[in-house]
Amino acid sequence: MSQTYKICLLPGDGIGPEIIAEGVKVLDAIGKKYDTTFEYTEALLGGIAIDETGTALPQETLDVASASDAVLLAAVGGPKWDTTDPNKPRPEQGLLGIRKALGLYANLRPVKIFNALADASTLKPEVIDGVDMVIVRELTGGLYFGERGREYDVEGAGVDGAKGQRAFDTLMYSEYEVERIVRHAFETARKRRSKVHSIDKANVLESSRMWREITHRIAEDYPDVELNDMLVDNTAMQLVNAPTQFDVVVTENMFGDILSDEASMLTGSLGMLASASLGDGTALYEPSHGSAPDIAGQGIANPLAQILSVEMMLRYSFDMNDAADDIARAVDEVLNEGWRTKDLVNADTPEDKVVGTKEMGDLVVAHLGA
Ligand code: IPM
Ligand code: MG
Repeated sequence: MSQTYKICLLPGDGIGPEIIAEGVKVLDAIGKKYDTTFEYTEALLGGIAIDETGTALPQETLDVASASDAVLLAAVGGPKWDTTDPNKPRPEQGLLGIRKALGLYANLRPVKIFNALADASTLKPEVIDGVDMVIVRELTGGLYFGERGREYDVEGAGVDGAKGQRAFDTLMYSEYEVERIVRHAFETARKRRSKVHSIDKANVLESSRMWREITHRIAEDYPDVELNDMLVDNTAMQLVNAPTQFDVVVTENMFGDILSDEASMLTGSLGMLASASLGDGTALYEPSHGSAPDIAGQGIANPLAQILSVEMMLRYSFDMNDAADDIARAVDEVLNEGWRTKDLVNADTPEDKVVGTKEMGDLVVAHLGA
């Protein structure tokens, strides 16, 4: 019997609409091959939602998203909406809001070297050869969601003892939040190379000391998985020094945000990294990169991270592992044949191998296998 899945599409801003079209193209091709129907409902999120409704996360978007089997997001944000005024809406509120509202506490960011792109990295080939890790980032707690505020005209807060302003953010975690993300990491490790690095700043932060305690307690349930604690500053260094030591990296929200951008550069381009945000209900899939407003509308953006997020969707939400493997293989083949979007080009790339967003999507579809 043919299966039908409801997918909420959130194109967002910048290159978002261009790349999500390629994700949909690939999904449709997969649907044909595997006798599956994907039904799409588009909704507003981010800057475009601010323009059209005054808020970055309209209630309607949340309703559509929660009623779907999965959410495919492209990217949000752009200079048009940049502001430091706490009273003005910002596109990122849409992203953070939907993560929180859907309870997407586990953000999986795989970092794997594509052989064909080994020379796209700024690091030496012998350093990145064999890199294959997944960053498991806590996504609904910590500094991103703790109490924050700004105070004005505070005595002594200004320069030379004058009145001035003061701002604060809070890094708070509850036990259950640490427990579920760390367990997720151990479970993930079991399906991989059975190694977990838990990243913290336990030499300074109380929240990190609790994180470490809980992690060690959980580790007792997984004697087959190797656990390493690593301080976040050391991790930043190890990621460029000896990145092949990592298998599963689990860490709190803000550390994960920073380390995942750093790790993405091992692969040469942020344009290749997909991510899955999972919780107990509908999951959300998005590229790890932003909305690249500088190249929006030119048809040159790399759609592969979006397409690889579709791969993750098929795997995690629909259990369509063969279809997901098709996409992974197709992307590999296309790259091995030398096709490149602009962000992946180097001095040796022949001009006739440089393709735009749509062409890249077509190439992947052509390699999916009928
Ligand atoms: C990411 C992004 C977001 C984050 C921004 C856009 C709010 O950098 O998904 O990593 O910090 O989580
Ligand atoms: Mg980030």
